[in-house]
Amino acid sequence: MSELWLLRHRQIPGLNQLSNYLQHGGFESWKKAVTKLTPEDLVNEVKNSGLRGRGGAGFPTGAKWSFLPNTIWPHYVVANADESEPGTFKDREILEFNPYQFLEGLMLASYAVRAHTAYVYLRGELWHIAHKLDERIAELTSSGYLGDNLFGKDYSLRIHTHLGAGAYICGEETALLESMEGRLGQPRLRPPFPAVSGLFGYPTVINNVETLTNLPLIIDKGAAYFRAQGTEKSPGTKIFSLSGRVKKPGNYELPLGTTFRELIYQHGEGIINDAQIKAIMPAGASSSLIPATEVALDTPMDYESVGALGCALGSASVIILDETVNASTVVSDTIHFFKHESCGKCTPCREGTFWMARVIDRIEAGKAKEEDIDLLASIASQMQNKCLCALGEFSTVSVISAIKNYRADFAARLEK
Ligand SMILES: Cc1cc2nc3c(=O)[nH]c(=O)nc-3n(C[C@H](O)[C@H](O)[C@H](O)COP(=O)(O)O)c2cc1C
Ligand code: SF4
Repeated sequence: MSELWLLRHRQIPGLNQLSNYLQHGGFESWKKAVTKLTPEDLVNEVKNSGLRGRGGAGFPTGAKWSFLPNTIWPHYVVANADESEPGTFKDREILEFNPYQFLEGLMLASYAVRAHTAYVYLRGELWHIAHKLDERIAELTSSGYLGDNLFGKDYSLRIHTHLGAGAYICGEETALLESMEGRLGQPRLRPPFPAVSGLFGYPTVINNVETLTNLPLIIDKGAAYFRAQGTEKSPGTKIFSLSGRVKKPGNYELPLGTTFRELIYQHGEGIINDAQIKAIMPAGASSSLIPATEVALDTPMDYESVGALGCALGSASVIILDETVNASTVVSDTIHFFKHESCGKCTPCREGTFWMARVIDRIEAGKAKEEDIDLLASIASQMQNKCLCALGEFSTVSVISAIKNYRADFAARLEK
């Protein structure tokens, strides 16, 4: 097995103990940053590494940091640990088993943007992990890695955890900020963007847990080392959460650009009962159903190549459907998920998800006619490009792609 970085705890058991993490080079990058590097050095190294956000959009991390104005203070950093996309379960593994590397990454991001307070926003169901993180943060404070005048320098940092209440929309960065400020978790209108007016109205960086967990490696070994894996435009490794009709589901840390075929047939050991693979959903419930053709299977899993297939890589929660799965049932699941999670702030999403649910229920109950399939496609396409945030858009992609590619599955459900 090649060297794992994000899932290093699989090769070094007990890495979630501070003494063990320290023995394996833990907090060396942190010490180096605070004692020898300037915040600009960190921003430049991360820019050179080409690291892109692992929360879904793949936005370049160093560039995001450099958007914070140096005229408005204080700055904040928030780690997004909301992880609620169906099929995504990577951040949770990091938080439980490699938590110090994540915290070290959060500390490096804070230093890079000169923030003195950082937060970890966790989905409500992870309350036990939040309690454990609180203990670890207290341990780091008493050991001198957090607190005032770190390593004798004029830099102080404190970290706090904040629990959500189990709403998918609170992973969307502006809804997350609303929730942290004690309001209903609903997205904000943009501009202003969080980089200018974020938490409590101050410049804020929001980064995903996995994004941050890459930082200790980049600061320790440098941008070129990081770039040795992955592709030119999508460097580094990525955790792919593989689930659905595969023999060996789980998290796999692989270089970006690894093909779907390698993930599914080598790491996932193929399809249950050696059935015929039908479709790939590369980004959880928010993805298109991509027919698993030879071309699709040989597509490298990086932001550009998956985009060229007509789908986003997202947070790389790869769900596999085989010939035993009816696409209409899958779409029924995704529609009901988004209807439940729609925050209700804008009409196209609130009403659109409601009506899509009404129509798919009729189809699934065997009480629909052929024109109901067109009605469902029409509702989804009327919602597109009209929603206030990406959740509403996400709710339409599985519907439109499934009807386009697997109309016969819907037709098989119609009134006889
Ligand atoms: C509906 C919705 C849910 C989201 N959920 C998450 C989430 O659970 N975790 C996450 O890191 N990003 C999530 N995002 C993306 C965030 O808004 C944001 O782009 C991300 O946290 C930025 O971090 P990154 O630059 O490190 O990727 C979500 C976005 C949307 C629209
Ligand atoms: S698109 Fe949906 S989740 Fe987003 S703001 Fe509108 S109602 Fe809320």
